[in-house]
Amino acid sequence: SRPRLVDGFGRAVTYLRVSVTDRCDLRCVYCMAEHMTFLPKAQVLTLEELERLASAFIDLGVRKIRITGGEPLVRKGVMDLFGALSPRLAAGDLDEVTLTTNGTRLETFAAGLAASGVRRVNVSLDSLNPETFRRLTRGGDLAQVLRGLEAARAAGLAVKINAVALRDDNADELPDLVAWAHAQGFDATLIEAMPMGEIDVDRSDQFLSLRDVRARLESYWTLTDLDLTTGGPARYVRVAETGGRLGFITPLSHNFCELCNRVRLTCTGTLHTCLGREDASDLRAVIRSGASDGELREAILRAIDAKPEGHDFRIDRNAPPSVQRHMSTTGG
Ligand code: GTP
Ligand code: 5AD
Ligand code: SF4
Repeated sequence: SRPRLVDGFGRAVTYLRVSVTDRCDLRCVYCMAEHMTFLPKAQVLTLEELERLASAFIDLGVRKIRITGGEPLVRKGVMDLFGALSPRLAAGDLDEVTLTTNGTRLETFAAGLAASGVRRVNVSLDSLNPETFRRLTRGGDLAQVLRGLEAARAAGLAVKINAVALRDDNADELPDLVAWAHAQGFDATLIEAMPMGEIDVDRSDQFLSLRDVRARLESYWTLTDLDLTTGGPARYVRVAETGGRLGFITPLSHNFCELCNRVRLTCTGTLHTCLGREDASDLRAVIRSGASDGELREAILRAIDAKPEGHDFRIDRNAPPSVQRHMSTTGG
């Protein structure tokens, strides 16, 4: 079937990221401030409302849904949402339902995710050093995440490790982290830190360009560009020495907005058509005002039509973040 969601720049939108909660059991230093205020329940969509919005996007041609947070697996009843999407997957209305998680609850949920048709998970993991991990996440337990990864493997889920490159915190460790992921049979993706929301440090003290990381990796590994996409923004290489796949997500050093195929919905029903812009459409107001499915589709089409051409991320010392909301509002 023809994609019906096409933005003003001719890009088809086929990938919806749905944040089911702004809460998280960790507090990664690049993602959140130490003291965050979370949304009151009344503002958060019910699972039925989230399901209705997701359905509307599927009806408009979305083929891939990624559940995000905060941490999606802390949302009560989240497995019911996977369960509700499962028949759409089975009917061929969707190519993929997946999630991005910090892994702390995978031990509990991996088998259920696999049973509802999830085939792969992206797990955020920035360090394999227990102390560094604890500091970066402000209290997280690495062993718990490693058990979660084993549970994912046991459930037959493919795993991709996501690591945000941070100049002082994990730069030296990134090659080992990638090699470890590949040895486990996992893909790995490195991500440039994006200036979203006020955190407790200046982002320019944290930022590390993946251009530099890649150059360093190439000084001892052979990287071959792969003509492959997982539907997200990563550009992949094969690492000859490990045999594994490595992705680079480079919003700052190499813009990829031209190929953008995605939009994100927050847990309050706000549609952000670009991660790096303030543009927002209030779909909660639409559904809570009693709109018909047709009116909801119209509201979505209008928002997609106005999708910005690209982000405006900049890392400037002492400058406010490019985008006010934190990454945890949309889970990326
Ligand atoms: P795949 O389906 O495996 O390709 O996943 P993905 O890269 O689409 O999703 P994931 O949740 O693993 O995101 C990895 C990183 O990419 C996160 O830091 C996201 O914030 C970031 N990201 C995803 N989409 C965009 C985007 O459109 N623009 C920017 N700048 N970053 C994005
Ligand atoms: N910049 C880049 N990536 C971030 N993430 C969280 N905050 C940021 C940020 N400011 C990552 C997480 C997770 C993914 C959803 O986004 O580590 O892998
Ligand atoms: Fe939580 Fe993920 Fe943000 Fe870390 S990056 S604080 S795990 S939402």
